[in-house]
Order: sequence, then C-alpha cells, then structure tokens
Amino acid sequence: MKYKFLESINIGPLTLRNRIIRPAVAEYIANPDGSIGDQYMEYYRNIARGGVALITPGIAVVDETAPYVASNQPYLTDKKYIPGMKKVVDAIHGEGAKITFQLWHSGHYLIDGALAPMVNDLTKQDIERLKQKYLTAAKNCKEAGADGVEYHIAHTYLPSQFMSTYFNRRTDEYGSNTPENAMRFSVECINMIRNELCDDNFIITAKINGSDFVEGGTTPQWAARCARLLEKAGVAMITVNAGGALSGYDYMSDNGKRPEGWKVDLAATVKKAVTVPVAASGSLRHPEYVSKIIEQDKCDLAALGRATIAEPEWVNKAAQSREDEMRYCISCLYCFTKVAEDGSEPGCSVNPFAKCEFIKPEPVADGHDRKVVIIGAGPSGLEAAITLAERGFNISIFEQKPYLGGLIKLATVPPNKTKINWAIDYYEKQIQRLDIDLKLSTRATIEKIEKLNPYAVILAAGSNEIVPLVEGAGLDNVISVRDLLEQKLRFDGKKVAVIGAGLTGIEAAHYLRNSNSDVYVVEKKPDPGATRSLADQLSFQDALAGGVKFYFQTFLHKINKNSITVLDLASNKKITLPADIVMPALGIRSNVELYDALKNKFENVYKIGDSDCPGKLPQAVRSGSNLGYALK
Ligand SMILES: Cc1cc2nc3c(=O)[nH]c(=O)nc-3n(C[C@H](O)[C@H](O)[C@H](O)COP(=O)(O)O)c2cc1C
Ligand code: SF4
Repeated sequence: MKYKFLESINIGPLTLRNRIIRPAVAEYIANPDGSIGDQYMEYYRNIARGGVALITPGIAVVDETAPYVASNQPYLTDKKYIPGMKKVVDAIHGEGAKITFQLWHSGHYLIDGALAPMVNDLTKQDIERLKQKYLTAAKNCKEAGADGVEYHIAHTYLPSQFMSTYFNRRTDEYGSNTPENAMRFSVECINMIRNELCDDNFIITAKINGSDFVEGGTTPQWAARCARLLEKAGVAMITVNAGGALSGYDYMSDNGKRPEGWKVDLAATVKKAVTVPVAASGSLRHPEYVSKIIEQDKCDLAALGRATIAEPEWVNKAAQSREDEMRYCISCLYCFTKVAEDGSEPGCSVNPFAKCEFIKPEPVADGHDRKVVIIGAGPSGLEAAITLAERGFNISIFEQKPYLGGLIKLATVPPNKTKINWAIDYYEKQIQRLDIDLKLSTRATIEKIEKLNPYAVILAAGSNEIVPLVEGAGLDNVISVRDLLEQKLRFDGKKVAVIGAGLTGIEAAHYLRNSNSDVYVVEKKPDPGATRSLADQLSFQDALAGGVKFYFQTFLHKINKNSITVLDLASNKKITLPADIVMPALGIRSNVELYDALKNKFENVYKIGDSDCPGKLPQAVRSGSNLGYALK
C-alpha cells in the first residue's frame, strides 16, 4: 500500500478502516441549547465521507451546571439530547466511519474573563457527583449508537488538572504525588464506564497531554507513567497532544511557528510505555510525513485535526494519489475564533465550505468553454478561477505582479508565516492541472480584455493601503507595509514607528524587529487584551517577546522628518516620539479602479475579494468560491 496509514487497525474490538482519525475539534455549531442540528450533522458527514476512520466530535459537555461551559457545543447530559446525537452518529456511520463522543468537563472557573483551575477545590462529594455525570453522559452516547467515548484528560481541563503535577496541589488520595493518585479520578471514571457499558461495540479511549509545557507540569515521562494506568483501566487507544487552556493554546494547536509534527515525540514516549494503539496529534499535515511517523513506529495512528478541516477529503485524495489537489492547513488558527469579524461563523481560511457543507452546491459542468477574464491572482481571483475552470469555463487571469497569490504572498514574509506558502502552492498546482491561462506581469486594460471577447469579467484586484490623513503623510520617510514586505526592506539600527496595531501592524513590526530595527507601534484604541482572536493574541505576544514596544490610546497627529507627534489620549497631551521611518498599517480600501470602465464595456461584470469588501484570507476565498459556483 502506498501509505502505511491506509492500512486498517484494531482498537479494542473495533476495526478501523485506516489509521487516520479526526480528533475532537470544537466546532461551535451545535445549537445554543446544546442539541445537535443539521449543520453539525452535515459537517461531520462530510468529514466521514472524506475517508477518516474514526471521528471524535469536539468537546461535549458532561456537566451543564459547571461554572464554565462552552457555548454551541453539544450536551451529553440528558436523554433529550439523544435524538440529535443519533443524527450525527448515523451520518458518520453512513459514510463508513466510527464515532466516539468526547466526554468533557472544563474544570474551570471564569473569573473576570480569565480561566482558573477547579481541581484543588473539589470535595469528595463533588468528585462522586462528577463521576456520575461522566457515567450518565457515556450512557447517553451508547444509547445514541456511538462506538464509544473518548475520556478527555488533555488540555488542562478537569481530568488533566488532576493528572498535572503543576495544577494538582491536593494532599489527599487524588493529589499528584504519585501517578496512581493523579490518575485516580480518571481511572475511577473509566472503570465505571468500562464495567457498565463497554462491550464488543462500545469502547472507551483517552486523550492526554504528553506535556503541559509549564515548569513543574506534566512531562513526557510522567505522561508515560500515567498512560500505563489508563491502559490497565481498559482504554482501547490513547491520543497524545499537549498544552491547553491554562498553559498555552499554542502548545495545543500551534500558530504556524513550529515545524510539522513537532509533538510526535510525545506520542512516541507514551507508545513505548503501553501496548494499546497510540495516536499522535499536532500539526500533522502531509501524507508522506504522516506515513513515515507510523512506519517509524512513533505512533500507530495519526490524529488530523485542522488538516481535515482544511481538507476533509485528506484520506481519499491521498489514497487516490491526488495529493496535488489537497488544501493543506496553514495553522493560521482562524478556525479557533468563535465569531468572525463580520459576525459569521468562522470556517477555515483555505476551505471555503468548512461549516457550510449543508449549503455546498453540486458543481455543474455548464461552462461550455465560455471565456471569463479575472483581474488579479490573489486568493479570491484564484479561487474563482479554479471553481469556474472545473465547471468548464475558459479562464484567463491578468496579474500585474510577477507572482501569484496577491497579498498572501506578502503575508508569508513576517516571522512564523511560511506555511501560508502551502496555500499558494495549492493554487499554483490547480492552475497547472486545469491548464488556466495565467498572464503574470501583465496589467489588465480594457483593450486587452476586449480582445478576449469575454462572457464575464471578474475584478479581483485587491485593495490599496489607507494613507493617514495627517500632515507629513507624503514625506520620504513614510514607507508602506507592502513595500516593506515585497522588497524585504531592512532598516537596521533605525527607529521605526508603525501606525496601527492590527495584525498587519503587529506582524510588520515583528518582522522589522527581527531585522534589527528599533520598532514601536502606536495605536489609537486601548489594548484589546483577551478580546483579540487567538491568532492575533499569539502574534502580539510573539512580537512583544521579540522586543516590539506598543503605545495604546495614542493617536497619530503629525509625521515629521525624524519623529512623529502623537496625542496621548489618556493624558490628552501631545508627545513627540523619535522615528526615522514611519509605517502606516491602518487597513485597506477596495481597489475598484477599473470597475466603472468595465461596467460600461461588458455585460457581466463582478467584484470579489478585497475589491468588493476588504477582509482577510477566509473572506477572500469564500467570495471567490461563491461567485465560482453562482455564475450562470
Ligand atoms: C478550533 C480548535 C478546537 C479544538 N477543540 C478541541 C476539543 O474540543 N477537544 C480536544 O481534545 N482538542 C481540541 N482541539 C485540539 C485538536 O484536537 C488537536 O489536538 C490540536 O489542534 C493539534 O492538532 P492539529 O494541528 O491537527 O489541529 C482543538 C483545536 C482547534 C484548532
Ligand atoms: S482555519 Fe487555518 S488553522 Fe484552521 S484549519 Fe483552516 S487553515 Fe488550518
């Protein structure tokens, strides 16, 4: 077989059709009352259809009275939820995959927006009550027809807090002085579930942290010792990840700064300690790599979380040698955001139909070679191009730059962003596969377009940077972020003032800092703190750690030759800050330069991506895809 992961494997009494599992990834698309509806069901049907062997949907609540309960995640707490659970079970089974629900108790208090651990406050009575909650939830899963449950001991949630020598400071038999004590709560829960429910058709598995990545917390060696106790308690498989809510989300799901498979050795350490199958989790992306770690016996299975959001057909495409058609997750963490800036549900930056599976149209081959001209080879233009080409339209793309990708090409330049190149590679391969006419270094003009006699013209020309409306904005020391990234400019030893602490400003500042500039960022708004999306938060922390300084509530008043004048909004005083270079990062405006002229000349003219409405990569990709499907 081409890839080792395509071989089947037994976990307990269950036979899996291959060794790729979809680990729990909170989707935030259950109904607000904790029940499961059609969007949720179709999401998982689609992932099962893509070929994975086992799916564990995201955290499912075992105690809805807990101090902190995630919103829009399923509840397992009552029989009234069983009909919804059954829907997703049947959908997954219908596609030949297995399903285990993930039993989850956060174990958190939410104090002033911050999470705090509960483990040390629980009485014996609380512990007994909680064990019953786990059992009830597992019973409901069995009644819904699931193949089992995954007992969640990872990511610093309640059982993980018991397991962790850092969080667990208890002095009783549930303390963390020995692995037996640290695992007592989990082993007792697992024993109850195993004794009462497990049989040839119902298993219990576990997910643990191979490391907490905090000083004094779970280490790989500790995890291995704890895993032995889980095996003894009867779990059929152990998935190994790391980090978590209290010790750092980027250790749980990294933001692109670490290499593929950077946590595999944690799984390998656990695997050496047990005989049950072990699944590795964390930044596993490419079929060859995944096959190799199984061949090397570092793990028995691979848990592909974000890889299967970005590419639900990951397994099928690998099996059919269609690797070139795979969209690889770029670890941008957009999927971690609960609500997108435009109020919609965040799906995925590279997969336009993530969480919209229920409205995905069937592609129809009705293009009949009609010519469509697309102006701009950024993500919206490219997405439209490949969708339309697949429908049989005849596509020509004009791109004035010598490269494709538009702004996302520049987005690969700041620190930790190289994985964005995987998205660009994908488009390059599709352009070749579909034999699309791509005219690089070619500016679109009405005359050139007219010569092609197009049925439709699509403006996907991106955006222009907003120039600050202040005195001095036209001085020579004002440099744009795009010039910085495109020309990889360096200002070694110079003082640079970046104006605007959005993601673009943060990343530009971090890039400059890495090339030895003395950088600070001024931002008129207060520090958004924890309200930043996880991706923005991690970039902000990385920039701070790299030595970038931030001035919040500081309003740019004037740009001078060697300084800027700002208004400190807290004291309402004007201050002058030294600056050899000033770099505005104040957002973008749609580039609609050609739009009116096109409208006057051609019948079917459309705007997509930033040319229509400035946004980020996921909005651009969806916009291109939407038009690609909708064009009549
Ligand atoms: C948006 C998001 C939600 C997640 N939710 C869960 C969850 O509900 N339960 C869980 O055990 N892990 C959760 N994880 C962690 C993943 O299961 C996985 O272990 C981790 O992301 C690393 O693997 P990946 O790089 O393949 O995504 C989540 C990760 C992401 C990105
Ligand atoms: S949103 Fe980003 S991190 Fe999440 S699956 Fe898609 S590409 Fe990966």
